[in-house]
Amino acid sequence: MGIIKLLPELLISQIAAGEVVERPASVLKELLENSLDAGATRIDVQLEEGGVRTIRVADDGAGIAPDDLPPALARHATSKIASLDDLERVASYGFRGEALAAIAAVARVTITSRHASQSHAFRLRNEADAAEPAALANGTVIEVADLYFNTPARRKFLKTEATEFAHCDEVVRRMALARPDVAFTLSHNGSAKRRLASADFPRRAREIIGEEFFPHARPLAATAGQLRLSGLAALPAYSRSGRDEQYFFVNGRFVRDKLLAHAARQAWADILHGARHPAYVLFLELDPAGVDVNVHPAKTEVRFRDARGIHQFVFHALQRTLATPLSSAERPPEAAPAFTPAAFSYARQSGLAVSEPAARSYLEFARAAFAGAEIGVPPAPTPAYPDDGTAPLLGYAIAQLHGVYILAQNANGLVLVDMHAAHERILYEKLKQSLDAGPPATQSLLVPLLLSASEAEMATAGEQSAALAQLGFAVAAAGPRELAVRSLPSLLAGGNPVDLVRSLLKDLAEHPASRVVETQRNELLATMACHGAVRAHRLLSLPEMNALLRQMEETERADQCNHGRPTWVQLSMAELDRLFMRGR
Ligand SMILES: Nc1ncnc2c1ncn2[C@@H]1O[C@H](COP(=O)(O)OP(=O)(O)OP(=O)(O)O)[C@@H](O)[C@H]1O
Ligand SMILES: [Mg+2]
Repeated sequence: MGIIKLLPELLISQIAAGEVVERPASVLKELLENSLDAGATRIDVQLEEGGVRTIRVADDGAGIAPDDLPPALARHATSKIASLDDLERVASYGFRGEALAAIAAVARVTITSRHASQSHAFRLRNEADAAEPAALANGTVIEVADLYFNTPARRKFLKTEATEFAHCDEVVRRMALARPDVAFTLSHNGSAKRRLASADFPRRAREIIGEEFFPHARPLAATAGQLRLSGLAALPAYSRSGRDEQYFFVNGRFVRDKLLAHAARQAWADILHGARHPAYVLFLELDPAGVDVNVHPAKTEVRFRDARGIHQFVFHALQRTLATPLSSAERPPEAAPAFTPAAFSYARQSGLAVSEPAARSYLEFARAAFAGAEIGVPPAPTPAYPDDGTAPLLGYAIAQLHGVYILAQNANGLVLVDMHAAHERILYEKLKQSLDAGPPATQSLLVPLLLSASEAEMATAGEQSAALAQLGFAVAAAGPRELAVRSLPSLLAGGNPVDLVRSLLKDLAEHPASRVVETQRNELLATMACHGAVRAHRLLSLPEMNALLRQMEETERADQCNHGRPTWVQLSMAELDRLFMRGR
């Protein structure tokens, strides 16, 4: 007798479920896709216990006729394609005819549906049973209960209820971005979490990505032949510490695709610090025959027929969008550097006719004074340079260039300092020293700082409060989707605490720790320093620049930034003379 045997049908489905049903969020994704394929215009999602106890999706789509109920739960049964030709140009989310069968193999599934041809609805609990009459006005309700009740090993891989819910919420966000025309609601354990009315794309994007992203987001719409790229891309003034705000949709389907991610990364490469990640919501549309979505059962990976062409197109479209200067009318006010009195007084000293109201906007000042060039505080009249050896190593600041570099004069000649990198390094070293010496000095905020938080951020803040406290932060929930920061390390009081706390939560979510250990601690400190450090395009006064130079001289390893690049360079008088062929 041979030892090779056919597997039982249920086991085959359970094996298939391993690929499709990774966690409650993957079940939810399949159900939402089915509702959208059925032409739903509103979808209501109810979850219990992070989706592990119940996932209930109700839609107002076409419904399923009673005869089609048993096949809907069967493997390899679909209404969406019938031939290889259909598969090659598939436009629906589903086509494998496998999702419901896989889900039914690892959970208890009930389908209630009313097809337009029927006078009432029918319900099916089990593929083998007969459909029974039920009450439902229209559409379909699918209830998935007790996920992994019969496969306890998989259950062990599930995370906390809050984390599983956060993944489900993320699935809803993606679908809601892809289909702004569809209304969605989401509730968890009986309380409402999202209520999204049918809207246009900008409004939906604002609701999903949030108010902070929006002022920095550039709309784009590019076409080349059959290719079209549209959506929103954030200018570097708004960037993230992780890839959490990168949404790429191919023909309406959310994908994680290396080729597209690479094209995007390249488009931002020159304008974004290497440790930061861009934010975008992008829709690539192309002839379905040009893309294969049948690469992985979860369909989040795709393969393009003309990979090179797509890469080029996406890269150039994005690069062009990011490079085109905005007219002042379009420019969001938050993105423009704040006007400083120093800049205004310089304009006056230089005899430029800049009225005070006009000069209030740095942009207008810059246009008047430098014909659009963004330049910081100009050279102050320098006193004779002390030549007696008492002058500091990095000399004295004379100007700030394009809001990025400090120019200083020292005994050798010219010093150029990357002000953000230098400040970041100083903060990093100080934070390390301060933590080595014991609990960091903290500054309590008179009025707690409130920030809106995602489900994932709320969960991390709760789970990692000890680690946060060790770093000097008191962060606690202030509402269902709001965090309150009550204190932070004194050294960072001058930075942007909102970004800072978000980045820390992101880091802690990726590397959870009950206690912050040495290697991880330094990574966290680097994140903190990056956010505490002065941003490019902040105008600094001469005393501020000189203070930074003096701190650099006092700080260990201050001549390299946290990423190993130099923080300053010297151009000697001899080198400058050579540039001008002086003395030859
Ligand atoms: N909400 C719904 N409304 C109407 N019909 C539905 C709904 N959900 C499922 N169906 C029907 O049940 C069938 C099986 O669904 P299932 O998700 O298992 O497969 P699929 O969507 O065809 O393919 P895939 O496995 O790729 O998702 C669908 O082809 C569709 O006809
Ligand atoms: Mg499906």
